[in-house]
Amino acid sequence: MKVLVVGSGAREHAIVRSLSLDPSVDEVVAAPGNPGIAALAACEPVPTGITDPQGVVDLATRLGADLVVVGPEAPLVAGVADAVRAAGIACFGPSARAARLEGSKAFAKEVMSAAEVPTGLAHVCTTVEEVEEALDALGAPHVVKEDGLAAGKGVVVTDSRDEALDHARACLAKEGGAVVIEEFLDGPEVSLFVLCDGSSVVPLVPAQDFKRVGDDDAGPNTGGMGAYSPLDWAPDGLVDDVVRRVAQPVVDEMHRRGTPFTGVLFIGLALTSRGPRVIEFNARFGDPETQVVLARLLTPLGGVLMAAARGRLDELPRLRWSPEHAVTVVVAAQSYPGTPRTGDLISGVEEVDGSGEAYVLHAGTARDDDDRLVSAGGRVLSVVATGESLAQARERVYAGVAGLDLPGSHHRTDIALRAEQGAITV
Ligand code: AMP
Ligand code: GLY
Repeated sequence: MKVLVVGSGAREHAIVRSLSLDPSVDEVVAAPGNPGIAALAACEPVPTGITDPQGVVDLATRLGADLVVVGPEAPLVAGVADAVRAAGIACFGPSARAARLEGSKAFAKEVMSAAEVPTGLAHVCTTVEEVEEALDALGAPHVVKEDGLAAGKGVVVTDSRDEALDHARACLAKEGGAVVIEEFLDGPEVSLFVLCDGSSVVPLVPAQDFKRVGDDDAGPNTGGMGAYSPLDWAPDGLVDDVVRRVAQPVVDEMHRRGTPFTGVLFIGLALTSRGPRVIEFNARFGDPETQVVLARLLTPLGGVLMAAARGRLDELPRLRWSPEHAVTVVVAAQSYPGTPRTGDLISGVEEVDGSGEAYVLHAGTARDDDDRLVSAGGRVLSVVATGESLAQARERVYAGVAGLDLPGSHHRTDIALRAEQGAITV
């Protein structure tokens, strides 16, 4: 089969990498892709941009794609999956209406309430007065979330009522601005991806992401600075529990509403003392968690995504997983998550790939006029390694990071460290 992958990040590079290892996949094309993906697959631009449904349909039709896999949220929210399916092409990704589970936190809360999914108490506010009331009702630490898409950066968690109010005011000032004030959920976070075909669900393995920019979770939230899997500290039965209490009820509720969910439901959880609570839903694979989850998936990916797209997950044999540990570390550009500096020369990628101990996935990279690899975004590279132990995987991934050079770049040095030390307790 021929697969078109929409997107240009390290998540899409990981997806393309896995698809190109699947013997049932004859050809992979990425739109627009990136210089790393270009080593594995043809890269085609969508002249009107990947959020233009017709532009993506035209490309998929011209290529004769059998399956379109949509990576990022923006094209999903814009209706790319609807248009691809309407053109008669199988698509892995939810419709615009189903993607509202990610696109609107208020909508996600409404669905969770209808499906009786365990989550934090929340107030959806549209005025400063409502925000003040909600902050006082729930108390500190305050959790203030922008209602719409914000690339993981719309959330402020703070003990300062003033800072909470400032963020809420900024969110309310946007057009149609609404803000969600939520109960603070304490406990380690887990990301679980669940494949959905509109009615059946198949969970992947859990991973943990590191959202804050600095070591020890210092500094602002980012899109994600690193991840690892498996989570040896997670309670037995966690995945079954989350499928039973979260994924299946949500998929059933979306089906009942006439907006079935097809694609990956990304469940962000806090494991609190009172049990798992949903922090957020996303309607797509997570970045950087995908890099470690797919590093461990032994079942060929193309057939799995096609089964989900075609409504045939119930026919899929049990997924097979490597027992190895996988770790990824994001190398970010100077000033990320603020406005990143771009255009810096990147070196060492081929040496790291050639080491056989780690590999490099591209995100914010480009070729300059002299065909040299340069930075072109905030999260520039994602280094991935696997090992028999978490310690070995960490050693390899950090050796890979040390082998790269990008002036002004930064990365976290403590990805998976507390798990390696056995310091995470639930
Ligand atoms: P979100 O965009 O909803 O994923 O939130 C980004 C990050 O903010 C999460 O990964 C958490 O680290 C933190 N966060 C969000 N909601 C809460 C909450 N209710 N309690 C504690 N931390 C939260
Ligand atoms: N790593 C979290 C996300 O993809 O939103």
